[in-house]
Amino acid sequence: MACLKWLLLAAVLSYCDGYKILVMFPLAGKSHGILGGGVVTHLLQAGHEVTYITPFPEKNPSKNLHQIDISNPEDEAKHSSVLNVTALLEGESSLSMSWFIDFIKSMNRDVLSHPNLVKLMGDTTKNYDVVIAEWMFSDIYSGLGYVFNSPFIWVSTIEPHWTILGLIDEATNPAYVPDSLSNNAPPFDFVGRVKELFLQVTGMALRFFYLDGYQSQAFEELIGPHIIKRGKPLIPFVKVQYNASLILGNSHVSLGQATRLPQAYKPIAGYHIDTTVKPLPADLKKLLDNAKNGLIYFSMGSNLKSKELPDSIKKDLLEVFGGLKQTVLWKFEEALPNLPSNVHIVHWAPQQSILAHPNCILFITHGGLLSTTEAVHFGKPIIGIPVFGDQFNNIDRAVKKGFAKRVNLAYDMKNPLRAAIDDLLHDKSYAQKAKDLSVVYHDRPVAPGKELVHWTEHVVKTRGAPHLRSPALDVPVYQKLYLDLLALVLLVLYILKKIVVKLCCSKKTVEKKRKKD
Ligand SMILES: *[C@@H]1O[C@H](CO)[C@@H](O)[C@H](O)[C@H]1NC(C)=O
Repeated sequence: MACLKWLLLAAVLSYCDGYKILVMFPLAGKSHGILGGGVVTHLLQAGHEVTYITPFPEKNPSKNLHQIDISNPEDEAKHSSVLNVTALLEGESSLSMSWFIDFIKSMNRDVLSHPNLVKLMGDTTKNYDVVIAEWMFSDIYSGLGYVFNSPFIWVSTIEPHWTILGLIDEATNPAYVPDSLSNNAPPFDFVGRVKELFLQVTGMALRFFYLDGYQSQAFEELIGPHIIKRGKPLIPFVKVQYNASLILGNSHVSLGQATRLPQAYKPIAGYHIDTTVKPLPADLKKLLDNAKNGLIYFSMGSNLKSKELPDSIKKDLLEVFGGLKQTVLWKFEEALPNLPSNVHIVHWAPQQSILAHPNCILFITHGGLLSTTEAVHFGKPIIGIPVFGDQFNNIDRAVKKGFAKRVNLAYDMKNPLRAAIDDLLHDKSYAQKAKDLSVVYHDRPVAPGKELVHWTEHVVKTRGAPHLRSPALDVPVYQKLYLDLLALVLLVLYILKKIVVKLCCSKKTVEKKRKKD
């Protein structure tokens, strides 16, 4: 009897005993930190023990969370040099593809040689049930799954695209799936289709020539020693590179398009959003409750500091906002003189709680993916002022979906902005579209956070979910395109032609002979 009791207790204990999970979101951008934090929070809530590699460690982590701080004092400087508002306005922003690849390479190197991560990888007592890492244009972190002897899961922060789907299945068809850096949306016209093919082919070439070799080398150099220390063979990087069990994608049809997806891709956009809306602070609640004509919320996100905006643009913005009968809430890092009575400035804003309020009728945003996702989550139309990276694509997509207008950041943006606000406030179709998409977004069998936990546990339970692995990974390109069959057909046709020619000729000669005779 006592024995049974112990057995039961042991069963209960082992049931409560969560998995050991390593989560890695190395990029020092606020939104990446938020997405990583979302993954960690859901896994902790499900009772797992999480080791989190992050440049943004929390002050007082909960007891099941171990943080590996990989912050780098140079990150801040690197970021502000990229996001120089004046350069953006003058059109001097220097973001080329080769710059981007160099940025990714140096980031990979900084992260993998950070003393805290080196220490973790070198600790042979550490093992994890699964490793989860953010994919950011490089596949190198998949090496950590091999180091720690565990299945590996990617988190993709954007819409599914050929580069990442190629890791678990095959590259998508550029005739109807745009490149991750393209703002083209299907159906493409002829030029658009050619452009997408060009982007994909050059992208493949760039990866082949500038990234693949580097990745193999970085794998051997920076991760290899830890593999050898654990007594395992240093296998070629491609064996690890194409061995991820799953991709958790921060995407959903309501936000993007109905891209055909492999079994090992799970779209879970919106998992970072709290399932219960946090109450607003008293002053903001009062402001929103009393906004009789509705409230417009304006925020340029966390990277671009609005105080870096030139004074003339600030003055113009105040003039536009001051001329509205709506209340305007502007997230801004400094106090402004001569504030119109309907404009309110806050240094920090609980964005989700503001968007959730029924009196919030319009969101003016830089168009970061998290902000556009939150707009759809709460069903609010947007005006996008994109400044950087994927923001242009996010806004263009929202415009095509019909719940947004785009205004370009420029010295003379006063009139276009005023016109856009006017349009969105008067034409109800934008708000209606946002509501319709919100219905699509919410109407899922399970909430995205639950799905995140489910699939992560599924990978652990089934030791890497090999049943989800696409057979396409093991089929060479020439077989996918049936080039071997084509070669065979051509060969047969060639031989047939030869035979026919021979037969004809011999017939002719026979006939000729007969005639002669
Ligand atoms: C590939 O993944 C499977 C399942 O997670 C694992 O069992 C296997 O060891 C991995 N292979 C390599 C080379 O990492």
